[in-house]
Amino acid sequence: MGVAVRHFDAVVVGAGGAGMRAALQLSEAGLKTAVLSKVFPTRSHTVAAQGGVSASLGNSEPDNWHWHMYDTVKGSDWLGDQDAIEFMCREAPKVVVELEHFGMPFDRNPDGTIYQRPFGGHMSDFGEGKPVRRACAAADRTGHAMLHALYQRNVRANTHFFVEWMALDLIRDAEGRVQGVVAMEMETSEIVVFQAKATLFATGGAGRIFASSTNAFINTGDGLGMAARAGIPLEDMEFWQFHPTGVAGAGVLITEGVRGEGGILRNSSGERFMERYAPNAKDLASRDVVSRAMVSEINEGRGCGPNKDHVLLDITHLDPEVIMSKLPGIREISIKFAGVDPIKAPIPVVPTCHYQMGGIPTNYHGEVVIDGQPVHGFYAAGEVACASVHGANRLGTNSLLDLLVFGKSSANSIIEFVKQQPEDLPQLAMADVERSVARVARLDNQTNGVQVHDARAEMQRVMQAHCGVFRFKDMLAEGVEKILEVAGMVAKTEIGDKSKVFNTARIEALELENLIEVAKATMVSANARTESRGAHVRDDAPDTPETPNGRDDTNWLKHTLWFREGNRLQYKPVNMKPLTVDTIKLKARSY
Ligand code: FUM
Repeated sequence: MGVAVRHFDAVVVGAGGAGMRAALQLSEAGLKTAVLSKVFPTRSHTVAAQGGVSASLGNSEPDNWHWHMYDTVKGSDWLGDQDAIEFMCREAPKVVVELEHFGMPFDRNPDGTIYQRPFGGHMSDFGEGKPVRRACAAADRTGHAMLHALYQRNVRANTHFFVEWMALDLIRDAEGRVQGVVAMEMETSEIVVFQAKATLFATGGAGRIFASSTNAFINTGDGLGMAARAGIPLEDMEFWQFHPTGVAGAGVLITEGVRGEGGILRNSSGERFMERYAPNAKDLASRDVVSRAMVSEINEGRGCGPNKDHVLLDITHLDPEVIMSKLPGIREISIKFAGVDPIKAPIPVVPTCHYQMGGIPTNYHGEVVIDGQPVHGFYAAGEVACASVHGANRLGTNSLLDLLVFGKSSANSIIEFVKQQPEDLPQLAMADVERSVARVARLDNQTNGVQVHDARAEMQRVMQAHCGVFRFKDMLAEGVEKILEVAGMVAKTEIGDKSKVFNTARIEALELENLIEVAKATMVSANARTESRGAHVRDDAPDTPETPNGRDDTNWLKHTLWFREGNRLQYKPVNMKPLTVDTIKLKARSY
């Protein structure tokens, strides 16, 4: 077939925080490591993470990993696996200090320690005390600073970067062992196989299934699409986080760090409405709680602006010096995208799709697992993976932490795995390579097909209308039918431009084939889960003493697994057993 094959010990797909943290560990251990990225590494979506990375350093006030663990389990609405959560919270101080030593330019306290600010859902004293300063911040550009620190370290470690390459498909042999990926160089459209002993997906999220998203245009669920096509199930895809503060009308993120620095949400009468919804944590309740409160205010007629369709984030009472030094990016975004200087006027904000809690099922070693068994040679870390530390709702700043902890732990697993493998790579399984090449050929040869932008717009419209902040039984059922119709459109997409050099039309069509898998997984999983939990809230889930806030632990304390083949669902238990401490017992969730 004439497809070139390149050989590596490890191939990492994605150059955000997780991919680069993993690659650094691998290259420093002497493994020949390739990193494939659709964009230059420092432009990966991690760049958009603003407010901080969580770690119980206790630099400004008492804190410890037990409190962090408690908050994360509670934030997850008890769907998070407690072994993975304990691992992440215990590792946090270590990986953050490591990052500091890699050259990360954190803000500083007067005594020289890392500056930390409060963030939603991070509390003291097992949720009983006040919000605690746990988010380690580089102004409001923490992800940006992290990417630069990790990229420089990788260059020093001789990681092989393949920039502007899109991975197309996973390669598995007849026994299901993973052998690497088929990829396309965007500059030339050349298809090349990257064969490796171990393959790590760190491709990030898929927020672009929704019409309104804080996600970059590159967040098209490529890892999820590839995994689904290769027979790997997707876990807990019904859980999507809507960040409370996207700029109204633009979707651009306004960090929760704004509320950490003292920002207040107000409705049309100027009321600080979060006092009614979360009397203790107020504006710093967890994101699902704040987003629902905002939508309730808007739905009940207390929204702001001529269309009463947003609320206001007010920081006019803060010292302008704090805004200029701790939130300079936010001021710039507000001026550019909302036309307001937040020193003088409040920012119009609405909940906007931000993060997928689900993903490729892994354990806390970063190994992809099906039926409790690791898939030979396959690993995932970061937003594409479901370890599951975020359960039904992620706490802000736990995502950057997740990238560091699981980027590193998956790399350590790969290092051990590669040691056990024979020196020579096995014979390449050509069937998957041929299927991938045929997928691209179908697109190039399609006539009388569907325009990519039409199918994508329809998918985003259906997802936004049928699977948003509040979900309704009938709308979900109808949503399943509609998204399957859109999948039919995606199977017939056509591109007018067949040229080879930087053909973004072809890339967008291939990205849509990944997005639609995520959209199907989301809608089907959400329709089936007939309770409310974390970010998944349904109108038909009864609020009773046995099912507080609609959460039904008797029937639904379990993870969803969606299989592409036959749109099939399966379930697996939540791991309620931490590694060294007692189980954090089920409790109704309030802030
Ligand atoms: O609000 C923020 O700065 C976002 C952080 C996060 O999603 O963790």
